[in-house]
Amino acid sequence: MTVTVFVGGFFGDEGKGKIIAYYSLVEKPRIAARGGVGPNAGHTVVFNGQAHRLRLVPSAFVNKDTRLVIGPGVLVDEAVLTKEVGELGVDGRIHVDNNCGLIEQRHIEKDRGSSHLKQEIGTTGSGSGPAMEERVSRTLRLCSSSENLKPYLADTVAMIHEELQRGGLVVAEGTQGTFLSLYHGTYPYVTSKDVTASSICADIGVGPKHVGEVIVVFKSYVTRVGNGPLRGELDPAELERRGWVERGTVTGRLRRAAPFDFELAKRAVKLNGATACAITKIDAVYPDAKGVREYSKLPADAKKFIEEVEVEVGVPVKYVGTGEEVFDTVTLEC
Ligand code: IMP
Ligand code: MG
Repeated sequence: MTVTVFVGGFFGDEGKGKIIAYYSLVEKPRIAARGGVGPNAGHTVVFNGQAHRLRLVPSAFVNKDTRLVIGPGVLVDEAVLTKEVGELGVDGRIHVDNNCGLIEQRHIEKDRGSSHLKQEIGTTGSGSGPAMEERVSRTLRLCSSSENLKPYLADTVAMIHEELQRGGLVVAEGTQGTFLSLYHGTYPYVTSKDVTASSICADIGVGPKHVGEVIVVFKSYVTRVGNGPLRGELDPAELERRGWVERGTVTGRLRRAAPFDFELAKRAVKLNGATACAITKIDAVYPDAKGVREYSKLPADAKKFIEEVEVEVGVPVKYVGTGEEVFDTVTLEC
């Protein structure tokens, strides 16, 4: 058993959380490790009729047997983490790496008070960018110095490698999306570090030889919050008509949207070394797909779209999301 990495194929909000939650219930990983930037992320998981909004806790929390860790490359906001741990009842099985960077109030104030970050780039205002700046300057405090986080602190890298040695499955949870990468995205309208699969692995402390699968998650249409280019962007009235109106999990901002972009998808597959992909929210484009859980029951036009994605991007589609609920998912035999 090895590491399966999940990453976003567009600009974040592809529905990674839901697909990872499904995967964790079906494949039963021993550990789910959160990589990515920090609490700028927002994953929504709807399980047993209840919606959970996650900014730091891994989406695999729905599997009670999966241990949850936050890798050293991730920034932690104490208040955000403590609140989430309480709400989700994951105390006792969540571990924060000693080397995670700590977001403090002044980082949040700097993020929200900077006209470049807040107005020009359109950041989430979570303090992530300013904290990354300090991490690069080597002045940022690490979680090991936090009294409040003491109960959670661990060497999560050692935990992961012990598990890999035992032959256990580990899932690496990426955040944001490929084109929000500091290096590969639409700079300067990007987040504060690389967020492709290789970096997600570095965030949690595993090297390439441990990676078995890289699954890139695409939504059936493309959305983006904040500024920056979005090819084929539709106007708000058209989004309303198509039922594609969405709001950000962290900021509540309206998401801009465009139809599925095959060129971006192809590039995302290359940048991440994808072995397979997932397509979410197919019911938003093909309403008859809503709630379908078997491939044979998908409408013909949805099947045609899935085939087109496979041909264009060159990797198999493994999971298709057909609704909000975790089990509203079709698994395809690859
Ligand atoms: P920052 O990561 O808060 O610095 O924001 C930089 C850009 O990335 C902005 O356009 C944000 O809207 C976007 N962004 C950051 N995290 C996410 C995410 O999890 N989903 C969608 N957009 C994100
Ligand atoms: Mg999100």
